[in-house]
Amino acid sequence: MSTHNSRHPFRFALLALLVAGWASTSPPSRAGDADAGKDVFKSECAECHAVKEGRNKKGPSLFGIVGRKAGSVADYDYSDALKHSPWTWTAEQLHTYLSQPAKKANPGTKMKYDGLDNAKDLDDLISYLDTLH
Ligand code: HEC
Repeated sequence: MSTHNSRHPFRFALLALLVAGWASTSPPSRAGDADAGKDVFKSECAECHAVKEGRNKKGPSLFGIVGRKAGSVADYDYSDALKHSPWTWTAEQLHTYLSQPAKKANPGTKMKYDGLDNAKDLDDLISYLDTLH
């Protein structure tokens, strides 16, 4: 017990150093890196989504997605689940939606996606989506 405790001050100092180093290189808010987010998009989303306006693939175009009302691309055939969802795609709503399996966030959806559990990738991705205007 006492040998274990005696190691704490050192561990704490190490942790404090790590946190200080992290804090000095990271922006204060949750703002992500849009360039890195573009790569996340390519590997996670591009199979089913285009970012070009009016270009639907398996999923609807994500042009202008941030701020858009859910289910609102006129020529895309949404599931009833998404069409009738009350959401507007704010950064916060996208965060909730994409951090878990789509079928859990929106039961009945036809988006087959298991969710992105890497928090940094998700922030980067949402920053990238926010550039699509
Ligand atoms: C396997 C194909 C697939 C993948 C991978 C995929 N999606 Fe989708 N996505 C869809 C489909 C299909 C829909 C339409 C869902 C519906 O109508 O229920 C959709 C819908 C959406 C919507 C709602 C759009 C709207 O107009 O309301 C968003 C936002 C979205 N996807 C974002 C993403 C992002 C970001 C990724 C990558 C992290 C991703 N999706 C990965 C197929 C996919």
